Amino acid sequence: MTPAESGMRNALRAYRRGCRGDEGRVRQMEAVEQTERAPGSSAAGVLGESVTPVPTPTHMQPPAVVKFHTPEVIIGRGALESVAEVAIGLGMSRPLVVSDATVRATAWHGELDSSLRRLPLAVSGFSDVSPNPRAEEVGAAFTAYLDHGADGVIALGGGSVIDAAKGVAIMATNGGHILRYEGIDRARLPLPPVIAAPTTAGSGSDVSQFCIINDSARGTKVTIVGRSLVPDVSIVDPRVLQTVSSAVTAQSGMDVVSHCVEAYVSLAHSRMTDGLALQALSMAWSSLARLVDNPADPEAGLDMAYATLKAGMAFTNAILGATHAMSHPVGGRCDAAHGAINSVLLPHVIRYNAQAHPARYAELGDAIGIDTTGSPRVVADRLAHAVESLAQRVGMPARLADLGVVAEDIPMLATLAMRDACMTTNPRLATADEIAQLYREAL
Ligand SMILES: [Fe+2]
Repeated sequence: MTPAESGMRNALRAYRRGCRGDEGRVRQMEAVEQTERAPGSSAAGVLGESVTPVPTPTHMQPPAVVKFHTPEVIIGRGALESVAEVAIGLGMSRPLVVSDATVRATAWHGELDSSLRRLPLAVSGFSDVSPNPRAEEVGAAFTAYLDHGADGVIALGGGSVIDAAKGVAIMATNGGHILRYEGIDRARLPLPPVIAAPTTAGSGSDVSQFCIINDSARGTKVTIVGRSLVPDVSIVDPRVLQTVSSAVTAQSGMDVVSHCVEAYVSLAHSRMTDGLALQALSMAWSSLARLVDNPADPEAGLDMAYATLKAGMAFTNAILGATHAMSHPVGGRCDAAHGAINSVLLPHVIRYNAQAHPARYAELGDAIGIDTTGSPRVVADRLAHAVESLAQRVGMPARLADLGVVAEDIPMLATLAMRDACMTTNPRLATADEIAQLYREAL
């Protein structure tokens, strides 16, 4: 086992051991691994119809051996002030600050820049990152990194900015094109130091081993996974989280909800991740609408900061499921906000999965205080409805069509979703036809 082997791979391996006797799931795992070995290979025929559906396992125990990974976390009002000292502690003298145009115009960017220069550090910045960061933007940021002679990356922004910063770090030591690293543990060499200071309460990228980059040529998002992609330090300042628009807060918050739900029902969940997912869901559920209504509410802001952090720790170790597997190709196709897509898809995936495995959804329902009388299946249906109600309450779209998806997109979206790594830990073994049907229901 190399140092670069990720917690995700370990979790998937442990999960695969638990799949013995479930031939359909084993074949799905092998197909994903085959795709990883052949980058750029066509998605068609990799999974989809080539996998013979079999009944899903009636009971799946969490892995016997659990690995849990998390960065150092500094959280609280004023935490942003510590970035400069942390950078020096990590050995940076010439950091590249990655952000986007919106963040660059905020007082936080100026505050960070001033504190870095005071110490003094030789700082340069790159802020040409779009909401779904494109491979060519990562390439441009890497050029800025080289031009500055940088020795570390500081990300100040939402999940897109943090993912772009991770992409720069990958290229800095591993070389080549960022899309070469699609899959698990393809970036073998250690990365330069990375500090992530999130400005939205949602992505969890500041604590995760995921990096999602938009491959605009293929019209999809590429998932890059690896333990080395976990930032060295996550610095969460609720003051910063409270200065984004209500729309961004709503989108990001629904992403947090989807992280909690998918991590809790994931086939790679563990006792380490279960508590985090339940706590995060409970906090997000009681705080999200309050923060959308009143961004200055300090209690709601702190709750969402912790909910985001705990959900991120849960999902980066437990992995995710069909909602994210289906969301990634939609994001690549339509350039819509990740959290808004998840918000539409999550209730449909809950109902689909709960037809086979409702019990853990009922436990999630209990965590948010919905009526838990009746069978687990009934409670799971109530949970799906509650997610729809919360989404409507915070102004999310109801249909994929509202985000630009058209019926003709669905066959390719389903094919791409089936090869997404997140699909392997979905609690119900899905076929491409079933995923296409879910897209149609959500359209
Ligand atoms: Fe997400």
